[in-house]
Amino acid sequence: MKPINVGLIGLGTVGTGVTNILLGEKPVLEEKLECVPVLKAIADRSISAKAPKMNLDSSILLTDNPDDVINNEDIDVIVEVIGGTDTALNVVQKGLENGKDIVTANKELLAVYGTELFEKACQVGKCISFEASVCGGIPVIATLKDSLIGNRIKSIYGIVNGTTNFILTKMANHNVDYGTVLAEAQEKGYAESNPSKDVNGIDSAHKLAILAKLAYGLHFDFESIYCDGISDIQLEDICYANQLGYTLKLLAISKRTSLGLELRVHPTLLSHDHPLATVNGVNNGVYVVGDAIGQIMLCGPGAGGMATASSIVADIVDVGLGKAKPMFDNFRYFKEQPIDTKVIDILEISSRYYFHFIVADIPGVLAKISGIIGQNNIGIASVIQHEEIRHGGVPLIMVTHQAREGDVREAIGQIKKLEVVKGDVRFIRIEDTLE
Ligand code: HSE
Repeated sequence: MKPINVGLIGLGTVGTGVTNILLGEKPVLEEKLECVPVLKAIADRSISAKAPKMNLDSSILLTDNPDDVINNEDIDVIVEVIGGTDTALNVVQKGLENGKDIVTANKELLAVYGTELFEKACQVGKCISFEASVCGGIPVIATLKDSLIGNRIKSIYGIVNGTTNFILTKMANHNVDYGTVLAEAQEKGYAESNPSKDVNGIDSAHKLAILAKLAYGLHFDFESIYCDGISDIQLEDICYANQLGYTLKLLAISKRTSLGLELRVHPTLLSHDHPLATVNGVNNGVYVVGDAIGQIMLCGPGAGGMATASSIVADIVDVGLGKAKPMFDNFRYFKEQPIDTKVIDILEISSRYYFHFIVADIPGVLAKISGIIGQNNIGIASVIQHEEIRHGGVPLIMVTHQAREGDVREAIGQIKKLEVVKGDVRFIRIEDTLE
């Protein structure tokens, strides 16, 4: 069998992980396979600084110009691990035009340009593999694309961002506020120096776009995903929710309902005993509901050089052995424009809600607030009110039964106008059935 010649573009944490697996002291693939990938070329902006530290064989072409790899006739598979959408888009497009198969970890590229890149790959008879783009080392793409192919997927609930899961876990377990934990995460290198795409939920939305398109074979615009991050989360809400039996997670959710498709990323309260509530720290977890399998959950390292490289090497082998292309050619989603679907407006979704109010401690306040809630078709399931004075009033916590988000926002708008309500009113969605 012809060797699989690989060109690596990007020698950061993940690219270094790929190099270590392919060229490690005892390369694991040789123990298992007759035909193994051969790393032929590496391109990186800072190759002259990085390569000498890696003791690379002189037969490997080292360059700071991606074109030297993309235009190299010996190379069969391009591994793109530079991230972002500028150079990466060019690398993938040119790589395909030059007849290379592509392995990428780039969730943003696929969430935003996936449809056109898949179309191009089909036109030129090549394939794009992207296991590493969602949840690093967890084989969630293969699970949806291969293992669960016989299922009509009903819903997906994912903790798909390690940085935010680290922050929320630390806030809950160590009783520290958001700003303090974020600073620690940056210091330890878990969070990027600019962690905005992580904390504002965009990174999770990119991953949700990929999972949902694969799971349903439906087309939607990335912008139609509702997205709320964790930067406004208050430690006191985590503590009250804990008293009520809930854990706070940033969830990426897709659900197929009779109204259309729900696609949303937001902080979500989960019952303490739900399997996703136990996914802690930088780990990721994805909970999938299918009509045949019922519920299944995958969890593990969602980021990190070696974990992500584990998925990339699996893709290289699949492409090299010719396993990836038949599926790529057959999967309707990659092959032709999938069916457009209606994404349900966030105001139309139905959920349970946690409310946090600060109110004056005088007679009639509870009646006024619960009156407005009731008039907006929302049922109250539980209430906490302690006597302590905070922020110029007493905290009033409520949990609702299932309610329409549009009604919830209308009620909150009316409650905010009451003189007895002091400061901000906050709400967090609760998912306790996960079906
Ligand atoms: N920034 C991402 C995370 C890395 O924190 O999960 C992997 O996509």
